[in-house]
Amino acid sequence: MCEIMRSLVIISLLCYWVYMETHSHKSSISVASQSTEGTLFVNGTAAIGFMDDDFVCATIDWWPPQKCDYGTCSWGSASLLNLDLDNSILLNAIKAFSPLKIRLGGTLQDKVIYQTEESQQPSTSFLKDGSELFGFTQGYLPMSRWDQLNIFFNKTGAVVIFGLNALRGRTINSQGAAVGAWNSSNAESLIRYTVKRGYRIHGWELGNELSGNGVGTRVAAGQYASDTKSLQSIVQNVYAGFEAKPQVLAPGGFFDENWFTEFIHKTPQSLQVVTHHIYNLGPGSSGDLIQKILDPSVLDGISQTFKSLQSLLEKSNTPAVAWVGESGGAYNSGHNLVTNAFVFSFWYLDQLGMSASYDTKTYCRQTLIGGNYGLLDTNTFVPNPDYYRLVHIDHEDQEHS
Ligand SMILES: *[C@@H]1O[C@H](CO)[C@@H](O)[C@H](O)[C@H]1NC(C)=O
Ligand SMILES: *[C@@H]1O[C@H](CO)[C@@H](O)[C@H](O)[C@H]1NC(C)=O
Ligand SMILES: *[C@@H]1O[C@H](CO)[C@@H](O)[C@H](O)[C@H]1NC(C)=O
Repeated sequence: MCEIMRSLVIISLLCYWVYMETHSHKSSISVASQSTEGTLFVNGTAAIGFMDDDFVCATIDWWPPQKCDYGTCSWGSASLLNLDLDNSILLNAIKAFSPLKIRLGGTLQDKVIYQTEESQQPSTSFLKDGSELFGFTQGYLPMSRWDQLNIFFNKTGAVVIFGLNALRGRTINSQGAAVGAWNSSNAESLIRYTVKRGYRIHGWELGNELSGNGVGTRVAAGQYASDTKSLQSIVQNVYAGFEAKPQVLAPGGFFDENWFTEFIHKTPQSLQVVTHHIYNLGPGSSGDLIQKILDPSVLDGISQTFKSLQSLLEKSNTPAVAWVGESGGAYNSGHNLVTNAFVFSFWYLDQLGMSASYDTKTYCRQTLIGGNYGLLDTNTFVPNPDYYRLVHIDHEDQEHS
């Protein structure tokens, strides 16, 4: 375990070093042909954190082709509802990790209805509508599609975390808060169906970006804790008789010290993983993204979040561990030719190393495919530079262990 961490930290440090070298020459292109001697000291006597063996994780989202940001529509057919599961590059790209953790979710997960035996299939899913929360109408997951996805994940050896709709049953009040208890009945039906079919789910996660001030809307921490307990008891029930039960993850939102403190104190036994999201570079539209990615002080800015969450978990009477459940650097789908290009590795490797050093167990990159920050190209499925970096880290680790 600590080998992975060390190699990540080392690569991260090397990144910094290479950056410092290139930066000091005030040139980014000619430096490639120069060589500079340097000494890097890595203190390998004691591990500073431990992470899961399958630390590497990537996301697949729900965004439909009509999702556009700043005039560009970068999602193509990368949604859980329309991704081409017969594509052999996709299959092999996931297989190469065996196992790759894949977290299924994102903004629109809190608007998805799962097909049940009784339900009438609506004729539409996720229509663009500016008057709707998150800009789209409700989505619908037919069980035939859920079957295809599970068969695909089984074939690729992926470890799946599924993000459940946490807004069911709540109403949005005049202050924009989602109030009332979570109605778990549709989620329970999906979980029962999944178990009946023998599909393996590693974790069930409740909600997306509803913590703290939320994105679009928010849910109070006390209410969220009680809903998380409901999810835990559903999982205990449905998986009764299974030796290994799936994990319960929540809240999948941005770290907010007060909200997370209350939430963690109120969910001591019902939660295995505290998930949080990171978009520390601002919007995908910002003109200075590359400068930010290459500025160590910008990259370090997020370390306080890792530190605060780590100390909160240490102080609390909880067995829960921390994961980064979604992280794409620049929000609103990233930026073409930046967050899918070589330069983004400086941010990504730094994140992997930094999060590991604060005891993060798993780090989910937004996205495996889709938007401008995919590890794979949205249209061709061909790996982007960050994908190769990951494969390298993963294989290096396997050689050590
Ligand atoms: C390396 O880390 C260990 C444990 O934290 C510490 O005791 C030791 O002084 C460090 N060595 C150096 C050379 O910094
Ligand atoms: C795939 O399904 C088979 C049969 O149910 C099961 O034995 C195997 O563990 C599954 N593999 C994964 C990676 O989920
Ligand atoms: C929860 O939702 C279902 C429909 O999915 C509905 O039949 C049920 O009455 C709801 N439960 C509560 C407590 O509102």
